[in-house]
Order: sequence, then structure tokens, then C-alpha cells
Amino acid sequence: MQLINSERKGIGMEGSEKSRGRLSTGIEGLDAITYGGIPESNQVIVAGGPGCGKTLLTFEILYNNAKKGIPCTYLTLEESQQNVLQNFKSTFPNFSDIDALIEEKKIILAGNETASKVQTGTDSQSYAFSSVLSDIEDIVHTNNSKCLVIDSLSILKLMLGDVLVYRKSMFALSLNLKRLGVTSFLTMEMQHTTRQAMSFSPEFFIFDGTIVMYQSIEENKRVYGLEVLKMRGSNHSMSVSPYEITDKGFRIFTISEI
Ligand SMILES: Nc1ncnc2c1ncn2[C@@H]1O[C@H](COP(=O)(O)OP(=O)(O)OP(=O)(O)O)[C@@H](O)[C@H]1O
Ligand SMILES: [Mg+2]
Repeated sequence: MQLINSERKGIGMEGSEKSRGRLSTGIEGLDAITYGGIPESNQVIVAGGPGCGKTLLTFEILYNNAKKGIPCTYLTLEESQQNVLQNFKSTFPNFSDIDALIEEKKIILAGNETASKVQTGTDSQSYAFSSVLSDIEDIVHTNNSKCLVIDSLSILKLMLGDVLVYRKSMFALSLNLKRLGVTSFLTMEMQHTTRQAMSFSPEFFIFDGTIVMYQSIEENKRVYGLEVLKMRGSNHSMSVSPYEITDKGFRIFTISEI
């Protein structure tokens, strides 16, 4: 197998799959391994260990779509809105029009209020969760978003505690997002960071798609790789694609499967 920089080759973009009913991520390598982007209104888990780039990747996807005029929402439930924006700007100094996109409401950056409801936990589990669902609906309606990130699901898992309540709540979330018709990215913490130690939690079965970000050590150096585990309604690459974070955004390298 040959490693190819997808920015140069753009492999995997079969004509029949790339155009209709898909949301381009705007990241060439990711569009290549998903064979043209995410099927519209799919809900995609973006899972990975600490610091692997879940927040930056999903925020870059929103940024790329907002630049094309597609209204988007980023709901941060753990990090503050200010932190998310600050980290994005310092990592990607080239994306200097981010403030203008927020000003124009092409990107709604929200979550501080919802996060405090989740984190204080004074209400009953199910009441607090239904309040989160209604916040999501209100925020999505603010700019008629077509693309949504929830960062992260892990805090909701902690809030809901009980396994059955959590599972039912995730089904409710999935149904709500489908009804709203948004293409969604839901970040999730993973306890293990390598492919070998991977285990499957219920979210991987409930939602339409799963993208996993791995970290491993090769010759004393940490290397990152990203894999599409599943994507309902679409074929996709079966490979783990190395990636790096540059000041111009994510670079995802694809493996030639020819
Ligand atoms: N300028 C940069 N160049 C390259 N990599 C960077 C740069 N800035 C940050 N990073 C990498 O991005 C990581 C942080 O990304 P991000 O916050 O998206 O991770 P995360 O998976 O969301 O983390 P968490 O699990 O803590 O929420 C840092 O750990 C660092 O490795
Ligand atoms: Mg994060």
C-alpha cells in the first residue's frame, strides 16, 4: 500500500458518490475517505483520546461550511465558548475571518448556559436532559443550522449516569437531530487511544456514523491516525489514515486502496 497526500491526489472521490445529498467537510482527505463527505442529516460520532484534535477537527468542519454560506452551530458543553474560539484562532491563524462568520451568525457558538445546567445537576436527570434537547432545538433554529457539533457527549453520559437512561436519552437525541434535519458531529472521549485497545460503546451503534481518532507511538514519536468505522448510507475507506494538525488546518493522508 502506498501513502499518498490526498491534498495532491484527492483519491476515493468516485463520481457517483461525491455530489448528491452530502455535506462536504471541506477537509480534502476527510472528504476522500468518506467518498465525498457526510450523507446529509447523518449523525457522526467523532471519538478519540485526550488532545487528539476532536474539538479542532469539528470546529474546522463548521468553519469550512460557514465560509460556503451554510449556517452552522457549535455547542460546547465542557470547554467555555471563549476557550474553544481562542484555541481555534491560535492553532489556525490563517482562519482570520472566524469572528466575522460568528458576527454574521453563519456560526452560532453556544453552550455556556447549557453547560451550566448540565454541570450543576440540580434537576432530575431526565428533566435536565429534556432541557438540553430543547436548548439544542432553539439554538439550531436561531440561524436555521444545517450543520451542528455537540462537544461532547461524554459530559451527557456522566450527567445521565444510569446506563438505561443514557441509552434511551441518546435515542431521543438521535430522533430529535433527525427531525431537525441537521448533519451532526458528536464528540466523544475514548478511554483507549490505540486501534488494538478499541472497545465499542453504545453510541457507536445508535448514531449513523463513527470516526475514530487514534494515537500510537512509533520510534518514540506519537503518530495520529483517523478511521471511518461506519457511515450509514455510504461506502467509505477501510483504512486508518494518518493525520496532522497544521496552521492551515487538518491534513489527512489517505492510503491508496488500488
Ligand atoms: N498549533 C498547533 N499545531 C499543531 N498541533 C496543535 C496546535 N495547537 C494544538 N495542537 C494539538 O491539538 C491538540 C488539542 O486539540 P483539541 O482541543 O481539538 O483536542 P481534543 O481531542 O478536543 O481534546 P480534549 O479531549 O481535551 O477535549 C493539542 O493537544 C495539540 O496536540
Ligand atoms: Mg475537546
